[in-house]
Amino acid sequence: MTWTSVATSEEFNATDRKYCELSEDLQIALFKHDDGKFYAVEAWCSHQKVSLVNGDLEDYELMCPLHGACFDLRTGKHLCLPAVKPIRSFPVKEEEGQIWIDVS
Ligand code: FES
Repeated sequence: MTWTSVATSEEFNATDRKYCELSEDLQIALFKHDDGKFYAVEAWCSHQKVSLVNGDLEDYELMCPLHGACFDLRTGKHLCLPAVKPIRSFPVKEEEGQIWIDVS
């Protein structure tokens, strides 16, 4: 496992999401869900490269703002067209006010 610190818990007092640029090849959308847990998925829709960070979130369905493809926030699974591929999802842990993502 390769845990990387990406945010503090405090940052989520004012928002429920954050865009995290970890490298040139890896950008993540981190969400704090109403269930109190954090979820991390690839920041880009698998249909076209559009950011999912500002997509509508209903229950665990994250909707792409461009054409409406939905992804399961917990797994990255694509739930409807036009997406035909999932997006990556990443394990998240919160420890002592820090949010960590396993990017291995
Ligand atoms: S770019 Fe996301 S559904 Fe088309």
